[in-house]
Amino acid sequence: MKKDFGVKTWLMPMPVLMVGSYDESGVANVMTAAWGGTGSDELLTVCIDSGHKTWANIKNRKAFTVAVGVESEVKACDTLGCVSGNKVYDKVARVGWHTDKSAHVDAPVVRELPLVFECELVSMDESTCLVVGRVVNVAAEETVLTEGEPDSDKIRPIAYNPIQHEYRAMGASIAHAHQGQID
Ligand SMILES: Cc1cc2nc3c(=O)[nH]c(=O)nc-3n(C[C@H](O)[C@H](O)[C@H](O)COP(=O)(O)O)c2cc1C
Repeated sequence: MKKDFGVKTWLMPMPVLMVGSYDESGVANVMTAAWGGTGSDELLTVCIDSGHKTWANIKNRKAFTVAVGVESEVKACDTLGCVSGNKVYDKVARVGWHTDKSAHVDAPVVRELPLVFECELVSMDESTCLVVGRVVNVAAEETVLTEGEPDSDKIRPIAYNPIQHEYRAMGASIAHAHQGQID
């Protein structure tokens, strides 16, 4: 028997999305977002509070990047979700990360994160907090490729557990997908 809990943000696993943007002076900012994901082949959606620096940055620059949080950078990923660029100048540099400008959109790419989605802004809606981006390029470090494709065993992405408020590593592969059938 199931127990009711009412309305909770307990969908899991949640991704750890690191949203990169530039402010009006060109300073790179990154915030952590667990509320987001793939919207379609080309679209990516992230829920961003309109009080965050990231919201203002994306509104101005009409672009952002989304990198996947990884095990080796979990401390920085958490810090960037606790500290706002509105309060701490150049917080990305303060956690020891380095950025380059995306070749495709007006937003920063974090060197320390191996897989990044470069997005141009499609829409942002303050009432729902939904920010929708069109992915114009995906880039992955050569070091995480196996036979030319990104390999999750090398990327080592992390997930957020919204109930116990913790980060989790991804486990081993347990089955191939898209194999199911009913005889
Ligand atoms: C694990 C985790 C997940 C978070 N997910 C979101 C989210 O999905 N949307 C959001 O608006 N804020 C989220 N936050 C909070 C922001 O990352 C945080 O307020 C951040 O300081 C905003 O940075 P900025 O003001 O520099 O943009 C999350 C924080 C953590 C630690």
